[in-house]
Amino acid sequence: MPSDAPRLSSPRSVAGTLILTLAMAGCATHQPVWPSAQQLPSQPTPPDPLVMLNGKTVASPTQWTQERRPELKELFQRYMYGFLPPTPSRTRFENEGVYTDALDGKATLKLIKIITDTEGAPVIHLLLLVPNHKKGPAPTFLTMNFCGNHAVMTDPRVPLTQGWVYTSCAGCVDGHATEPGRGSQATDWPVAEIIDRGYAFAAFCSSDIDADRKEVSTGVYAWLATHWKRPELAEPAHRGSIAAWAWGFHRCMDYLAHDPDIQPKRIAAVGHSRNGKTALLAAAMDERIALAIPHQAGCGGSAPSRGTVGESIKRINTAFPHWFNERFKDFNDQPDRLPFDQNALVALCAPRPVLFSNAKEDQWANPDGQFEILKASDGVYRFLGTTGLETNQVPGIGVLSSGRLGYYIREGKHSMTLGDWRIFLQYADKHL
Ligand code: GCU
Repeated sequence: MPSDAPRLSSPRSVAGTLILTLAMAGCATHQPVWPSAQQLPSQPTPPDPLVMLNGKTVASPTQWTQERRPELKELFQRYMYGFLPPTPSRTRFENEGVYTDALDGKATLKLIKIITDTEGAPVIHLLLLVPNHKKGPAPTFLTMNFCGNHAVMTDPRVPLTQGWVYTSCAGCVDGHATEPGRGSQATDWPVAEIIDRGYAFAAFCSSDIDADRKEVSTGVYAWLATHWKRPELAEPAHRGSIAAWAWGFHRCMDYLAHDPDIQPKRIAAVGHSRNGKTALLAAAMDERIALAIPHQAGCGGSAPSRGTVGESIKRINTAFPHWFNERFKDFNDQPDRLPFDQNALVALCAPRPVLFSNAKEDQWANPDGQFEILKASDGVYRFLGTTGLETNQVPGIGVLSSGRLGYYIREGKHSMTLGDWRIFLQYADKHL
């Protein structure tokens, strides 16, 4: 549950007995007290994911799985993203339409409502396209979009998204979608080509889960605040929109795992920019996701928090305070005290494949720093007995380094293009 209540049963320490001491001094129930940012040691380079918070090195893959992975999941939620909402026990799926003639007969379009809990809980509208030419269930790209499913393709049967949309979305009037927005993002999502290549394509809009507004919370945390009678959960400081959206990925996985047209063990999570940060977090926290493609995700996703290039955590926390929890702000002027960096988020995906893809002019997302993050997560992949990065140097422009830890950088700006998707498809053909 998204609470700050300590969750571990045994006290841990960064410096011998720090947490134990604090726990004994400050808490009659002997629950561990987590160190503040100031109490954490300065680590100027990304900490090794294989070193536990208590300073001990992980000795075996079993210890990684049983101790370090849960610890890292806890640390990321506690110090950065906030806690993901709990897995609901009452999710229902409603079929709103199945059309076998989508994309000129290439695909079957399914419109599914994922009702995540009782009255008032988020309802996620999932658009699913399944290739008609393929016999048997298909591998799938699961994607989150900015402007609504109706913007992904021109098919008039896809309902306009009902939630809040960004003013930058075509057709947005007073924060709501209108018909002129239909198909307006089709160049970002080359669905016909994805289908031709034998993949299914699933899409949902982030605002179904939490509208991206710092001043007001209308999504899953607002619902939990009412449902659990904990009003503080709706306050911006207690939200973490990226964690909420990652939870949305997981609810879509709940549905996809049971759709007979989908291969549940072959689902890749894809997102661009803030949605890429989300796709990576979603994969790190849920092993059902077989592959992650955080495209141009940058700070708070694929780029180092300790980076000096592009966006800093102080900038991101100031511009988008609702994306992360309150404690992350404590690191604004001391990112070196974070007990992890984003290499540990990639390591949480190990041994599953992860592709970072970038654009040369998008220095805000720190493409070189992202490569360093992959390098600093490679050790965990090797430790688990699998392969990782295939190169020690940033590959040339337009060249895909297609290792289990993959990297790609092209010319151009911050955007998602058909060319990018061709790289995603090439990577998925190899690894999914
Ligand atoms: C801003 C923000 C980035 C983010 C991007 C996006 O540029 O600073 O962190 O990735 O928006 O989501 O488009």
